[in-house]
Amino acid sequence: MEEASAEEEPPGGTPLFRVRNLERNLSLAKFFVKFEGVNPTGTQKDRISSMHVRRAKAAGYDTISLGTCGNYGASVAYYSRHQGLKTVVGVPSSYSGERNEEMQSYGARIIGIDSDYEGSLGIMGDLSRDNNWYDCNPGSVNSHVDLEGYESIAEEIISQMGHAPEILSVPVGNGTTLAGIYHGFRNAYNSGRIDSIPRIIGASTTGGNPVVESWKRKYRNLRNLRPDQIRETTNNEPLIAYRSTDGQEALSAIYRTSGCAEYVSDDEMIYYSRLIEQTEGISALPASASALAAAVSVLRKIGSGRECVIVITGRGRT
Ligand SMILES: Cc1ncc(COP(=O)(O)O)c(C=O)c1O
Repeated sequence: MEEASAEEEPPGGTPLFRVRNLERNLSLAKFFVKFEGVNPTGTQKDRISSMHVRRAKAAGYDTISLGTCGNYGASVAYYSRHQGLKTVVGVPSSYSGERNEEMQSYGARIIGIDSDYEGSLGIMGDLSRDNNWYDCNPGSVNSHVDLEGYESIAEEIISQMGHAPEILSVPVGNGTTLAGIYHGFRNAYNSGRIDSIPRIIGASTTGGNPVVESWKRKYRNLRNLRPDQIRETTNNEPLIAYRSTDGQEALSAIYRTSGCAEYVSDDEMIYYSRLIEQTEGISALPASASALAAAVSVLRKIGSGRECVIVITGRGRT
């Protein structure tokens, strides 16, 4: 085991801003951003990786492993290093590798996987089992932690607003973030702390995602896509998927809240990430700005006066 270092920053406690410049620019009212970009490694993933690392350590593991396209890997490597664990990250060969250096700077060992993202999850899952590493892959035996970790986003929104917003828009890849936030609102509703649950919009890439595709085709049961049905780009990487590990949970949350799911193109993601930077000084990954693009498109259809929170899940790489 490596030596633990002390300066780990906790995740969460992220700000909720009312974005009045954006409201004026887009003719919206009561529009808010829950900004996950201020987490220690810049995305919401810190909420779950810190929990996995604590569990792995408590259970006596010396190594934690996962397949990743970048953001989750950087986050796990950061917490793992601070807790004195080793990290092994499987990075698919199709990945642009923009966060590899950062993962290495946190001491992670990177294994290039000659497959796509979904393939890298399978291979790293097998390696974890064979080597007795803690498996924090999406969809692994430990993945119930993920939904629990993201519930805190809902809890924070409720305490920051004093109530639940009418509409909530969230970027979707595996669907884990959306499903976890829904669980948080549902728990608060069931315990009488809020009197309604937001309508949830799932935003993903026109490059392909099973949650949006299933919703658009009115399927109640998630149908995954074929690998040849997706088109990966540098911008849509965090959202692209032909199998979404928590896609069924996310799809059900969208139906239960009378929400919807929207595809967003790379051009729109780039346009809206620039707009939010220019008007509000919020640096959002283009993939993350899909939540804004989808919310704008939905509000234009159902009424721009609705109170809406968008979850911006990552910052631009600085
Ligand atoms: C910055 C960012 N936003 C959103 C997502 C999508 O989250 P999920 O896979 O939980 O649906 C990811 C996934 O990697 C991400 O990195």
